[in-house]
Amino acid sequence: MPDKAKLTLPDGKTVELPVLVGTEQEHAVEIAALRGQTGYVTLDPAFVNTASTMSAITYLDGERGVLRYRGIPIEELAERSTFVETSYLLIYGKLPNKTELSNFSRLLTRHSMIHEDMKRFFDGYPSTAHPMAILSAMVISLSSFYPEAVDVKNLELIDITIARLLSKVRTIAAFSYKKSIGQPMVYPRNELSYCANFLHMMYSVPAEPYHVDDEMVRALNLLLILHADHEQNCSTSTVRLVGSAQTNLFASISAGICALWGPLHGGANQQVVEMLESIRQSKKPAKKVIEEVKEKKFLLYGFGHRVYKNFDPRAQIIKRTCDQLLSRLGINDDLLDLARELEEAALKDQYFIERKLYPNVDFYSGIIYRAMGIPTNMFTVMFALGRLPGWIAHWKEMLDDKSTKIGRPRQIYTGPTENHYVPIDQRT
Ligand code: SDX
Repeated sequence: MPDKAKLTLPDGKTVELPVLVGTEQEHAVEIAALRGQTGYVTLDPAFVNTASTMSAITYLDGERGVLRYRGIPIEELAERSTFVETSYLLIYGKLPNKTELSNFSRLLTRHSMIHEDMKRFFDGYPSTAHPMAILSAMVISLSSFYPEAVDVKNLELIDITIARLLSKVRTIAAFSYKKSIGQPMVYPRNELSYCANFLHMMYSVPAEPYHVDDEMVRALNLLLILHADHEQNCSTSTVRLVGSAQTNLFASISAGICALWGPLHGGANQQVVEMLESIRQSKKPAKKVIEEVKEKKFLLYGFGHRVYKNFDPRAQIIKRTCDQLLSRLGINDDLLDLARELEEAALKDQYFIERKLYPNVDFYSGIIYRAMGIPTNMFTVMFALGRLPGWIAHWKEMLDDKSTKIGRPRQIYTGPTENHYVPIDQRT
């Protein structure tokens, strides 16, 4: 395999560019010297063909439906790990031994409360405030309560800052839910596990005891593991770009939350359920809905993916979990039946086959969140809770890499060539 690529330009000039090969045989032409040698830049809107970085965290193979965190297949982690253990794996690069896991868990347990002054922030939000807006604002506000974390070079603080963020986002998310339904906010309980504590803060009320359902804890661990990382997706790339300016962790993650909110990205899980509810209300048959999608009247949210062109392994696991959890909870959700009908109709249709459109992670996840009693407008917050360790891992990997430079893409200018100021009385 030649380790160089040759590029010949219109003027006949030829340059040789290094070829890089990743551990999974992904090949790249490294163009760092291109502009210096030729004056040319490359243009790749939406970065469809462009790698922004090298990374050792997560590997995707979109053709084979492969997803591995630090080399471990998502199927094994989904089956055998917990979200806290998977978070440690993503952030610190290895599965923790017993002592490491116990210390990490204890850190998360001890830092779950938010400053009492932060609680008062919630008083200012209308009950209709979208929880993603609250989450992003609260996360960046943590930098006001931990100003020492603003110095990203202070490495002693990195681990405690990571633990504070991973732990407090649950409390912030649960408090935003309580605020939206007018119930009192519930403090975390230190004897509960990470996921059990979140469910406790979400659903318990002072008026009566609340027992955390083990099935729900298992389902939540699974969903958070499945969402934990996905290499250079839109929100992770946002975290990396903001962090490349040596922006602190809280602010970088807050930016990632904003990117995830978009309906084409993490916001799709809310769109899917709202789409299914509207289709159910319209009583349109699945076949008619697919026809309208093909006429480009609307997107079939939860379908399609920039990388997965065969199947999204997470969607397959979530779909299986839907059946198990709903039957164990004795829930019969007709939206699940509708989702299955739409999937079956789409997968047989040439429009979807030609465009390689398959269910993605968002297509069935909302059905499980509904079964867990989580309201639709909290679905993307759940995605953010899951994705947090991935964002943190990428932010840390980037800052640990001493060759990191601030991200600053080039452009091709297409505006007016030079012209001059015209006094207002001479303008038409
Ligand atoms: C996530 O990157 C990640 O890893 C993201 C994610 C993660 O874990 O971080 O996996 C999470 O964001 C999953 C995606 C959630 N979004 C949705 O479900 C929204 C619906 N999906 C589409 O918007 C779309 O499929 C994207 C955004 C996911 C991917 O878009 P691409 O790769 O830019 O593809 P495209 O828009 O160019 O589509 C190609 C064709 C177009 O038709 P033509 O112009 O060729 O006629 O497919 C069509 C699109 O119109 N198409 C769809 C469709 N998705 C693509 N048509 C109907 N319904 C859809 N869902």
